[in-house]
This record gives sequence, structure tokens and C-alpha cells, in this order.
Amino acid sequence: MSRFGYRDKGDFQALHEIVAAAEANLPIEVWDYLIGGADTETTVKRNRRALDSVAFRPRVLNDVEDIDLSGELFGHRLRLPVFLAPIGSMQDFIPEGAEASARAAERFGTMMMLSSSSSPGLEAVAAATPDHPKIFQIYVRGDEAFVNDHIRRAIDAGYKAFCFTVDLDYYGRRERDLAKRHKTTARSTAKDEHYQSRFSWDDLKRYRERYDIPMILKGIATAEDAALACEHGIDAVYVSNHGGRQLDHGRGSLDVLPEVVDAVGGRARVLMDGGIYRGTDVIKAIAPAPQPCRRPIPTASARRGRTVSSAPSNCWRRKSVSVSVFSGCDLSRN
Ligand SMILES: Cc1cc2nc3c(=O)[nH]c(=O)nc-3n(C[C@H](O)[C@H](O)[C@H](O)COP(=O)(O)O)c2cc1C
Repeated sequence: MSRFGYRDKGDFQALHEIVAAAEANLPIEVWDYLIGGADTETTVKRNRRALDSVAFRPRVLNDVEDIDLSGELFGHRLRLPVFLAPIGSMQDFIPEGAEASARAAERFGTMMMLSSSSSPGLEAVAAATPDHPKIFQIYVRGDEAFVNDHIRRAIDAGYKAFCFTVDLDYYGRRERDLAKRHKTTARSTAKDEHYQSRFSWDDLKRYRERYDIPMILKGIATAEDAALACEHGIDAVYVSNHGGRQLDHGRGSLDVLPEVVDAVGGRARVLMDGGIYRGTDVIKAIAPAPQPCRRPIPTASARRGRTVSSAPSNCWRRKSVSVSVFSGCDLSRN
């Protein structure tokens, strides 16, 4: 029996069981790093508020016996229109680090984005899951040669797309971590962070012109930047506020989505994250634009140091099916 009163047998049925198990199994400073946001955590709350303020208008008698919930990203079929967002310092949650997320994503039938701040590195994760399509995400922590090197290595290792995260010019003021004087393993060894602060549209243009690999810009939160991303030939505009871990008092991601979808006008894919925990959230995010992604993987992975992320994923699938059925909404027709 866990200290939360659940019998921890690994056959999770509800999200709160997974969350409770993860909290019980992680040191408090790692747990707080996982769930915390910047400053007053207003942006974190707004991500949820934006989702919670949307209600369904259920239609009936729609023949929902057989519905298709699958999605597609860069030519790859996803079991749900969901992928795994990049998570740094995965090694702090689970000994296998990002390899565990890649294996879980492969088992479930979705894609994962590997963070440049997680171990093991991009070649090791690629070697561990050679048949599984993955995306590499970078923080710019070096000069042009550094970025070129990472793009070439990602291409050589078979990554299907390359993602620049652009909302971390400076590291957010995460007060839970500050108060405990806690630094993740990646953060304690981070250097050359100023390269990210000076990274610009002109730099992006050069990489875009030089490489064919599909490129994603993660951390877009306005129509203006979404339009600029399209003008720079970006393949996917990724609406995100870093889970509220960077700019405090930002807008909830779902509130940002409509203006970005309008600005993009079909010129690029639109991805989003921020507060997505359940099938209901996925459906809400899909209504204006496709492909939300989610965070709970380290929460799930943290349980007894083993990855159990297929458990939440299956909860998710069941929930998505029920929402889809109850709302009379067949995703394949939307
Ligand atoms: C523990 C943790 C580590 C993260 N590390 C990265 C990272 O290395 N690169 C990145 O682009 N985003 C990172 N993010 C942000 C996520 O990719 C994603 O944008 C965010 O978690 C989505 O919001 P949500 O947490 O409400 O689902 C991290 C988020 C968390 C919670």
C-alpha cells in the first residue's frame, strides 16, 4: 500500500493514481522541479484554466460505433494525435533517462521529442529504438558549429525532424527550485547559455536554407511570431509556454491557439502543449488545431524507477474514445 492508500500494483486505472505513485517515489526537490512553474505559476494555472473553460456541446445519433482516433506527424502514423514533448533531465526521474520515454513512445505508437538536455544522447537513444521515429529538440548552447554539428548528427541518426526551443533565452525563475537550492543534473553542468539569448531569426534562416530536415519552432505564443516562422520556412509552429516554466503571467496555450492557427493559415503544421493531461484536453485542443502533446511521461516513469507510461497512455485512449463517443465527434471526420 502506498502512503496515499493505493495498492501500487502497476495496473493504474486513473491519472491520480499515477501522479500519487510518482510523487511518493521521487525526492521532493525532483518532484517540485517536475511540477513547478515560473514565479507565481500564473501561466501554469492559465494553461489549465484555458482548457477547463471550454465545454462540449454533445450531439447524438451519430453512429460512433467505429471511430478512428489516430493522427499523423511528418508522415508517421500516431495511435492518438498526441506525441511526447521534450523533457530535460529525464535521467533525474528514471535511471534509463530519455531512452525510457523513447521505448514507451514506441510501445504506445506515438513519437517522442528528445531534449538536448536529457541523457543518454541522441545517438544512444536512436540506437536503442532504431525503428521508432523520433524528433530531436535543441537548446542553442554553442556557436554555429555547435548547431550544425547537432543538426547533422540528428540527420545521421535518423531523427525525423529538428526542433528549436525558442522560449528559453534565460532560464525561468522557478521559485520551488530556488528555495531548495536545487539544480537538475543538466542545469548544474549547463554552459554557454548566452548563445540561446542571442539566437535570432537571421540565424534560423541560415539553418533553414542549409538543411532539408523538417524544422519545428517550439515556444511560439503570438500570431506575429507564428507568421514570421512561416515566412522563414518552418514546417511546424509549436504553441507552448514551456508549461508555464518560463514567462509568468502569459496566456494559457489553448487561448493562444486560435490566433496562431489563423496566422499560419495552413502554411505549416500547428503543434501545442500546456496543461494537457486527459483525452478531454486532447479533444479540446484538436477542435481548433491538431496535435497536442503531453507531459505526464516523467510522472509516470518515476514510479519505482521503471517506465509505466503505457498505463497513462491507455487510460488516455479509453478516455478519448469515451469523450469522442459521448460528444458524437469522430476525430477522423474533423
Ligand atoms: C520537467 C520538465 C522538463 C522540460 N524540459 C524541456 C526541454 O528540455 N526542452 C523543451 O523544449 N521543453 C521542456 N519542457 C517543456 C515541455 O516540453 C512542454 O512544453 C511543457 O511541459 C508542456 O506543458 P505541461 O507541462 O503543462 O504539459 C520541460 C517541461 C518539464 C515539466
